[in-house]
Amino acid sequence: QIVDVRLRRILDSRGNGTVEADVLTESGGFGRGAAPSGASTGEHEAIELAPEEAIAAARERAVPRLVDEVYAGDQRSVDAALHAADGTDDFSEIGANSAVAISMAAAKAGADMLGAPLYQHLGGAFRGENFPIPLGNVVGGGEHAADATDIQEFLSAPVGAPSVTDAVFANAAVHGEIHDILAERSIPAGKGDEGAWAPSVDDEEAFEIVAEATETVSGEVGFEIGFGLDVAAAEMYDEEDEEYVYSDRTRSTEEQIDYIAELVSEYDLVYVEDPLDENDFEAFADLTEKVGEQTLICGDDLFVTNTERLSQGIEQGSANSILIKPNQIGTLTDAFDAIELATRNGIEPVVSHRSGETEDTTIAHLAVATDAPFIKTGAAGGERTAKLNELIRIAEDAL
Ligand code: PGA
Ligand code: ZN
Repeated sequence: QIVDVRLRRILDSRGNGTVEADVLTESGGFGRGAAPSGASTGEHEAIELAPEEAIAAARERAVPRLVDEVYAGDQRSVDAALHAADGTDDFSEIGANSAVAISMAAAKAGADMLGAPLYQHLGGAFRGENFPIPLGNVVGGGEHAADATDIQEFLSAPVGAPSVTDAVFANAAVHGEIHDILAERSIPAGKGDEGAWAPSVDDEEAFEIVAEATETVSGEVGFEIGFGLDVAAAEMYDEEDEEYVYSDRTRSTEEQIDYIAELVSEYDLVYVEDPLDENDFEAFADLTEKVGEQTLICGDDLFVTNTERLSQGIEQGSANSILIKPNQIGTLTDAFDAIELATRNGIEPVVSHRSGETEDTTIAHLAVATDAPFIKTGAAGGERTAKLNELIRIAEDAL
């Protein structure tokens, strides 16, 4: 039984305020969760309120429905209470930031009560033994850094790694190698919101640098390291002119599809997220038809972890992968349901951080619990390594 829910405003990695929740149970169980926050947010995401506002609304509406009412170990009841307290379909009353913080805190309190690690509580005894491959953001721009690449993220993908630890260190090595390459080329190397290098280079040069770095490190570690992208194309799409706006040119939807397909074959990309606008299920389907056999076409802003949008995507064949961000939808139950629907339909779930993060490690546990084949949580920087180091600890225990 939940006996107390405490909410507070804490700092996120960008220095903004975010919501942290503590959940306490009758038997002494304790859990703490903190909401992350996006910069290139999808238009259809659940609503994040100002932290003060979200906290006040959750105290008034959600806490009374949880305290002395619900068991922390019963995640569906916790999350149903959050939905009932909010009453809308996008958490615009209590804020998806309050909802997700409480949802994650309750899950941890539930695990604590059982004396089980969170991944075990969330995944149960029938969890598989594969580890999620970390996709490491190593170069980026878009909404995450000014004056850098148009493409938001270049992601190191150590697909041949024999263990999660090897994979985590491979991504860090690629990140380090890129620093060296930038130094050789006398390119100043600042960092973006997720800790990726944010050099002032065009996308073409970024491809060259990332391809060189992944190849070099792959040679050193002796297993395959590919790379992928988060284009975050909704951020460059001009709805009025129906074109994608790059620094040096524009592309029509057709040209964008061809461009991405060329990149997939030229660089053997293993993963491409949001290559097209967040409302263009059809263009997504055209691209997936073209290159879906060779690579993962992942919907982030397209699906926003929402089962209704995912169902539409499944119907239209829009993608073969979905990004899973619990705060896009507001609760762990909703995120879990999206993963389940995806998996049943052959869509690969990729569990993901946000550009604004905290030390919270729930997503590492969620990825292991659900047998997700990939987790996207950066390559370097404290709020990113919190999750990566947790993965290493979980692997010691379970994988
Ligand atoms: P965001 O970016 O957290 O700023 O939305 C991450 C992503 O687009 O995957
Ligand atoms: Zn994305």
